[in-house]
Amino acid sequence: MKQTILVTGASSGFGLLIAQKLHDSGHHVIGTSRNPEKYIGKLPFKFLALDIADDSSIESFGKRLFSQIDQLDVLINNAGYLVTGLAEETSIELGRQQLETNFWGTVKLTNQILPYFRKQAHGKIITIGSILGLIGLPNVSYYSASKHALEGYFKSLRFELNQFNIKVSIVEPMGFKTSIGDNAIKSTGIIHDYQTFRQQIAAFTKREFDNAAGPEPVVHTVLKVVNEKAPKFSYPVGKGASIFLTLQRVAYHTFEGAILKRVNATK
Ligand SMILES: NC(=O)c1ccc[n+]([C@@H]2O[C@H](COP(=O)([O-])OP(=O)(O)OC[C@H]3O[C@@H](n4cnc5c(N)ncnc54)[C@H](OP(=O)(O)O)[C@@H]3O)[C@@H](O)[C@H]2O)c1
Repeated sequence: MKQTILVTGASSGFGLLIAQKLHDSGHHVIGTSRNPEKYIGKLPFKFLALDIADDSSIESFGKRLFSQIDQLDVLINNAGYLVTGLAEETSIELGRQQLETNFWGTVKLTNQILPYFRKQAHGKIITIGSILGLIGLPNVSYYSASKHALEGYFKSLRFELNQFNIKVSIVEPMGFKTSIGDNAIKSTGIIHDYQTFRQQIAAFTKREFDNAAGPEPVVHTVLKVVNEKAPKFSYPVGKGASIFLTLQRVAYHTFEGAILKRVNATK
């Protein structure tokens, strides 16, 4: 069945592939970017301007969206970015901006859509969280915090929206090759005590990006959730995801030791 689907951050990475695949499958896709003029006419689906870190952009986006469409079935909250750096060395301002976009921006955009979904008594919200919303790793504390916050928020919201036939799910990818590493804001440190660890962790993070798999499994999972009548809440994706999660739950010290061993082994 043809659905109308909004994909935030459809200019790059997962969002671009998800939007393209949904369009190719016959759905009516609306993508967003902070710079839609770069993509309008070059990609086969409609692009609207949206910056989820900017309240006025979110508000005017909502008005424009509903003046242009008469149906919306699925919201895919994909837009986001990554701040890397050791927690103590990362400024609170950088950390705040990370949560402002990844958490608050996603919540505010969802709030623009919810009245419409309630009115039509159906809808589906699929948010791209991260495995880092379920586990922690060094060098990504604020990113991990933003994704943990999304987990808690949407887990609660799912209960509240059940009565309106609005489904809520979160997809939690491991590391996959997109432009997220190139687009990351990298906080560089100055605290002497961290010098050796900082170098190791930077090399570890780079190696994780270099060795990451292609993004297709995430696209496949999102499409599956789009088509499911009664989707689950949580969809971890990627090689080793279930081992990580099980280890964390039943053998935390082993999980932690394995991560630190990998970091320490990085040259
Ligand atoms: N790649 C991974 O390994 C991985 C793993 C787990 C989760 N994720 C999550 O997957 C989602 C997509 O990331 P990606 O890996 O595909 O990265 P990407 O290639 O860098 O794409 C990020 C997308 O988000 C949009 N965006 C960034 N900041 C925005 C803002 N303030 N307002 C509106 N749009 C914004 C960008 O659009 P414009 O620049 O055109 O505005 C772009 O389309 C993110 O939520 C990310 O946290 C990625």
